[in-house]
Amino acid sequence: MTEKSANLTYFKIYRWNPEKNDKPYLSIYPISKNECGPMVLDALILVKNNLDSSLTFRRSCREGICGSCAMNINGTNTLACLKPIDHSRRSTKVYPLPHLFVVKDLVPDLTNFYAQYKSIQPWLSRSETTPTTQGARDDSPTAKQKEYYQSKGDRQKLDGLYECILCACCSTSCPSYWWNNEKYLGPAILLQAYRWIIDSRDLTTESRLAGLQDPFKLYRCHTIMNCSKTCPKNLNPGLAIAKIKEAIFLSSSPSSWTSRR
Ligand code: SF4
Ligand code: SF4
Ligand code: FES
Repeated sequence: MTEKSANLTYFKIYRWNPEKNDKPYLSIYPISKNECGPMVLDALILVKNNLDSSLTFRRSCREGICGSCAMNINGTNTLACLKPIDHSRRSTKVYPLPHLFVVKDLVPDLTNFYAQYKSIQPWLSRSETTPTTQGARDDSPTAKQKEYYQSKGDRQKLDGLYECILCACCSTSCPSYWWNNEKYLGPAILLQAYRWIIDSRDLTTESRLAGLQDPFKLYRCHTIMNCSKTCPKNLNPGLAIAKIKEAIFLSSSPSSWTSRR
């Protein structure tokens, strides 16, 4: 069969195996457009199933919900399961999310990212003493028994925030995060922080804001907005960061932001 009749496209995929002594390299795989589904993840699964079972990547839901298939495709961080194969290109280049350590092939090490997520205490808190900074939750019987109501308007304030799937596409597209990811929380975690700051049911807003008042955790954001451009869920972490800065500024003024929230 000729290349034309097979209707081939090529995938150039970053490879690195920590158990071998090799430097990273690109593997090139021919894919028949006739046999492959429409998305980049379909091509990766086809490669793994039919051409090279050693290719390593994460995926679960295949519908943009779990966030595990985040990677850099043709220079943009996105979700492989939501990214259609661009047939106008002769080849598709696939790399792991940038500026993270690599576990193997397309799998980045998200240990620091998840530790940063834990640090912002991503749960509803009704008391300044719980949850603790060590991450303990308020699992007391009293806490479990209660429901906390919210007006429709307050609930709508969570739109554009709760949809975040923690894929890390935004944080790993942010130059500030590339150079300071030990200290700067990055757009994904700050969007999550704002999700709890703005939640009317949470009673720890002031301590949440105080915890972010730090030259590195928050103020390394220079409003470059790569984060909002790349988010595959069309969220706006850059705006969430600006809202945190505004809330901190206003909370230090006489008519405090927390009373106007
Ligand atoms: S804000 Fe968007 S890009 Fe960032 S982690 Fe959430 S879903 Fe992913
Ligand atoms: S707006 Fe802030 S968080 Fe987003 S890419 Fe720019 S510096 Fe990073
Ligand atoms: S496989 Fe779950 S988001 Fe892509």
